[in-house]
Amino acid sequence: MHKLIDLPTDKPAAYAELETGLRALLADEHDLIANAANLAALLYWSLPELNWAGFYFVEPARDDLLLGPFQGKPACVRIPVGRGVCGTAAARRETVVVPDVHAFAGHIACDSASNSEIVVPILRADRLIGVLDLDSPVPGRFDGEDARGLERLVNVFVESLDR
Ligand code: SME
Repeated sequence: MHKLIDLPTDKPAAYAELETGLRALLADEHDLIANAANLAALLYWSLPELNWAGFYFVEPARDDLLLGPFQGKPACVRIPVGRGVCGTAAARRETVVVPDVHAFAGHIACDSASNSEIVVPILRADRLIGVLDLDSPVPGRFDGEDARGLERLVNVFVESLDR
């Protein structure tokens, strides 16, 4: 499949290249939806072995997460905070790595191809505004290096909103 950026196989090096690419991609814009859409596309078309990459944003009035920009198959629209992998990462305000989604109690299956998942909370000035969610058909696809790399990319995204 076509790749946007030909990334090194070493994960820290790959995320460093993605960070450089993301800074360039978001340099001239601060709109939440536009920048989220471009980050989702950058990840989906650059990282190997993904079947979904996208955002859920907090709707405070309902205490749930609402589907945002993504790449992949159509997905569940609303996820209550505390439910599923996304809602768990949102409630804990920490990255959740799930090597086997079928072994995660409460996992919400949107695409039956997904076998592993990582969800990174998005905090803006200490307030939770949403989560970044990546799914893979490969069991154990995500690890601590993905967590650290994606958290850095999420920081770049949040910084872009305040320019
Ligand atoms: N699996 C997620 C739901 C979102 S989809 O993966 C796109 C969850 O359990 O929260």
